[in-house]
Amino acid sequence: MQLRIVENQRQLGETAADMIESVIRANPRAVLGIATGSSPLPVYAALARRVRNGLDLSGVQAFALDEYVGLSAEHQQSYRNVIRCEVVEPLRMNPALVHVPDGCAYDLNAECLGYERAIKDAGGVDLQILGIGSNGHIGFNEPGSDPASETRVVDLTEQTRQDNARFFNSLQDVPKHSITQGIGTILRARQILLVASGYPKAAALKAAMHEPTDPATPASHLRAHSSATVIADSGAASQLTKGSLSPALAN
Ligand code: F6R
Repeated sequence: MQLRIVENQRQLGETAADMIESVIRANPRAVLGIATGSSPLPVYAALARRVRNGLDLSGVQAFALDEYVGLSAEHQQSYRNVIRCEVVEPLRMNPALVHVPDGCAYDLNAECLGYERAIKDAGGVDLQILGIGSNGHIGFNEPGSDPASETRVVDLTEQTRQDNARFFNSLQDVPKHSITQGIGTILRARQILLVASGYPKAAALKAAMHEPTDPATPASHLRAHSSATVIADSGAASQLTKGSLSPALAN
C-alpha cells in the first residue's frame, strides 16, 4: 500500500482527484467504485471543480459500495439520494450509468447477486474509492467479514450505527442492515484509493496499515492488493509514524 499524507481536506481532495482524473483521461468509459459518508466529499468537490473546467465524466460508469436496507430512494439519507446529490449532479454523470443497490428490493439476496453480476458485466471496477470506518470497516464489511465475501446483506454494528447517527435525527432512525459489496468484490478492483481524515480514524488506519492482517480490521485485507493507495490527513495519520512504517508503506 502506498501512503500519501496531506495537510488538509482540500489537499486530500485534490490528491485523490489527480488519481481519478488520470484514470478517466486514459479511459473516458472507466468504471469507478464510489463511497458515501463524509470522507470522500472533498474528493467529489475537487472533481466537481474540474468538471466545471471541462473534465468529462458523462461516459464514466459507477457502482456504489453500499446502501441501507429499508430506506426508500427518496429518503434524504439513502445512498441513492446522497450519490445523486454529491456525485451524479455535481460531476454531471449520466444517471443511467450510476448504479446503487436497491435496499428496498423485495428479494434482497437476488438484488445482491444481480449487483455483483452487473459489476462483472461492466468489466469490473477500474478504481474503487473507499473510506474507512472507525472500527476498520470498508464498505459495510464489519469486523469478522470474510475476505472472499461478495455483495450481500449485512448487520451494521452498534459502533457503525452510532458513528452514522449524525446523519439521522436519532440513533433509532439509523438502519440496522445494509447491502454492501464484499471484501472480495472490493479487492477485485484494479486500483484502490482509500481516503481517511480526522483523529477518529487514526487507530483504525494504524491497525489496517501497521498490524498483521486481521479479520478484526477489514481494511487490513487491502494489503493483499497490488495497487492500493491511502491518502490520509494529519489527524488520520497521527498514529502512523514514518519510523514504524515498513519500507513498503513509507512511500
Ligand atoms: C460508505 C462506506 C463506509 C464509509 C465509512 C466512513 O459508502 O462504505 O465504509 O466509508 O463508514 O464513513 P465516513 O467517511 O462518514 O467517516
